[in-house]
Amino acid sequence: ALAYFNGKIIGIDEPVIPIDERGHQFGDGVYEVIRFYQGKPFMMKEHLERLYKSAKAIKLEIGKEQEELETIMLQLVEKSGLADADLYMQATRGIAPRNHLFPTCPASISITVKPARELSQDVRTQGVKVALLPDERWQNCYIKSLNLLPNILAKQEAFEQGCFEAVLVREGIITEGSSTNVFIVKEGRVQTAPLSNHILAGITRMAVKEVAEELKVPFIEKSFTPEELFQADEVFLTSTTSEVLAVTNADDCQIGDGRPGSLTMQLHKGFRQKTR
Ligand code: PDD
Repeated sequence: ALAYFNGKIIGIDEPVIPIDERGHQFGDGVYEVIRFYQGKPFMMKEHLERLYKSAKAIKLEIGKEQEELETIMLQLVEKSGLADADLYMQATRGIAPRNHLFPTCPASISITVKPARELSQDVRTQGVKVALLPDERWQNCYIKSLNLLPNILAKQEAFEQGCFEAVLVREGIITEGSSTNVFIVKEGRVQTAPLSNHILAGITRMAVKEVAEELKVPFIEKSFTPEELFQADEVFLTSTTSEVLAVTNADDCQIGDGRPGSLTMQLHKGFRQKTR
């Protein structure tokens, strides 16, 4: 594992963040998680575009061109010697005496590169349980903001209920998971919430949409209710780290026959092919 902070490559355990760093004090920044497969980044351009979109939405000037940042990330992974890696990067409003108003200092950029966290084969073949919980986040969930307190609290609550993920419900409809997008399958059609300010535009979601189109599987972007989820033939989650992951139980209600669905597995297979 390796890390980077404001121009320097450092050890993963090195203490580098000054007390007056705004990510640390305010969560005043944005981030991305990018997966490297066999040394190659997966959908790097899409992640970078989302990063700059998030930065713009919070009026953060990253201070580097997209290509320059990409080069830094590629070099860091190469230096780490890791083929399958999780790269985390965040950009914050920099280091300045604590004050809610924007400082004039340059942005801070930190990056870590660690061995990819793979889900166990058991989890993959059995699927996971989820808990439905209220979506207590703000109105700008399309921004990949460092402020993750509602997400963390929901994930922890789900974990304490023996679940892998919290599926969030806002005004009677399912938005997304605490760190995943949520899909249902009904009568051969894949359905997920439409892009809006209430969900993150997942890169894995985008890849799964492409796979569905290639397989000629109808892909519907339309909100659904908890009732529709409980009644679905299949349910799955997507994220950079989980890829396409079957859900077999929600709030102690069995989904389908209680095993990962066939369309879910096909979509995961198609997704894996894209990573090569
Ligand atoms: N989470 N929704 C939320 C709220 C997320 O935090 C994430 C990603 C996703 C899926 O996005 P993608 O397919 O681009 O990874 C959806 C990352 C992995 C994280 O916070 O670790």
